[in-house]
Amino acid sequence: MHSQLAPQKLTAVLVGLGHRARTYGAYAFEHPEELEIVGLADPDPRRLEHTATVFDVPPERCFRSAEELAMQPRFADAAINGTMDRQHVPTTLPLLEAGYHVLLEKPIAPNQKELLSLLHMVRKTGRTLMICHVLRYAPFYAAIRQRVRDGEIGEIISITSSERVSYHHMAVAFVRGKWRRRAENPILLAKCCHDLDLLCWYKSGVRPVRVASHGDLTYFRPDKAPPGAGTRCLVDCQIEAGCPYSARKNYIEQGLWGFYAWESLEHLENPTLDDRLESLRTDNPFGRCVWHCDNDVVDHQSVIVEFADGCVATHTLVGGAARPCRTVHLVGTRGEIEGVMEEGRFTIRKPDARPGHEYTEEQVDVNVVGSMHGGGDLRLVGDFLRVLRGEPPSLSTTTIEDSIYGHLIAYAADQSMLEHRVVDIQIIS
Ligand SMILES: NC(=O)c1ccc[n+]([C@@H]2O[C@H](COP(=O)([O-])OP(=O)(O)OC[C@H]3O[C@@H](n4cnc5c(N)ncnc54)[C@H](O)[C@@H]3O)[C@@H](O)[C@H]2O)c1
Repeated sequence: MHSQLAPQKLTAVLVGLGHRARTYGAYAFEHPEELEIVGLADPDPRRLEHTATVFDVPPERCFRSAEELAMQPRFADAAINGTMDRQHVPTTLPLLEAGYHVLLEKPIAPNQKELLSLLHMVRKTGRTLMICHVLRYAPFYAAIRQRVRDGEIGEIISITSSERVSYHHMAVAFVRGKWRRRAENPILLAKCCHDLDLLCWYKSGVRPVRVASHGDLTYFRPDKAPPGAGTRCLVDCQIEAGCPYSARKNYIEQGLWGFYAWESLEHLENPTLDDRLESLRTDNPFGRCVWHCDNDVVDHQSVIVEFADGCVATHTLVGGAARPCRTVHLVGTRGEIEGVMEEGRFTIRKPDARPGHEYTEEQVDVNVVGSMHGGGDLRLVGDFLRVLRGEPPSLSTTTIEDSIYGHLIAYAADQSMLEHRVVDIQIIS
């Protein structure tokens, strides 16, 4: 009888202690034999103190920034970097130089120049940098990728995909929230770098060459405000009771998006209902009317990508949908795959030459768990640790070289949309 050897235990530092880093850190609780969180870094003293308690990290292993951490002799195998989008490159460069392998949140970088600086640092240091392309780990996409790799539908010649962001998600992140300004966080890069990565993943080995894109902000702007709308839901709005975007409805009654909406109350241990209402009435940015914010990211954008073999992929992002979902339709030379991630199944159809038959149809059910990204978040951490232990990469493993093409599409798409022209994608060697 074979005895199963315990996997080598690795240590990591959590950097940027928002909800993303803490979500990944939770892997250490589920698999203490594989991962221990031994250090923390964040300029916010409350987050640092709270997370130190949760993960039982001593004060001498708590730092005020990634940069300060990187100045100390390295004391862990890896860093899990959950800082905000704009800090990904400046915080990851010193961590790689200090010798940490890094699991980095998406998007990798806001522009091609910074992206390439990170790629060069990875090559110089020989460290592993894995990007949190969590959808590769969602069973729905992993199963589709497996079928494509097995050649079931032949060579892919056309891809149509969409991400429909719900009205309340659009409001909390891209109208009232942290990703509302194009100059800091363009929405296609922030929201769809996953989807653009999936396009490149389906087409592994074939590079994207040209991109065109159109999009606009048409709804979440002052001239579209319904009669009676105010500037803050709970202060001067006459239609709050019937408005789907009401801050009271979204963040109190429905209890949605608490980790964003109540960030300004993090200093209170147990905020009361009155604390929350007062905050929405006064200085909480999530109490603002969705038609009277300072948002300028588009609320819909479509991207057309041409690959080197002539395959064309179209991805559409739309914000404000009643039902959030991601859809995909791949057409290959021998068949097609179609599905909606949230429904937990996809269909494979193939032309059928038998008399009286038009096509065969196979329905594939995949396990959809309730957690974010189809359960991909923690599977990604597990895969990162496997790669660090030197085990064979999984189907979903993404190297930095793999991950950059989805981002290059996003940069090119925004340039195309703003300049009204087709943009070529540079070859990165
Ligand atoms: N993979 C996904 O699907 C997914 C989903 C949501 C968000 N994200 C990404 O996750 C990232 C984090 O999002 P969040 O909402 O958890 O962010 P957050 O703002 O809540 O947390 C970021 C933390 O980084 C800290 N920080 C700032 N500068 C730092 C520095 N120099 N060194 C160390 N820490 C520093 C901040 O104090 C803050 O606590 C973002 O880039 C976001 O786009 C990814």
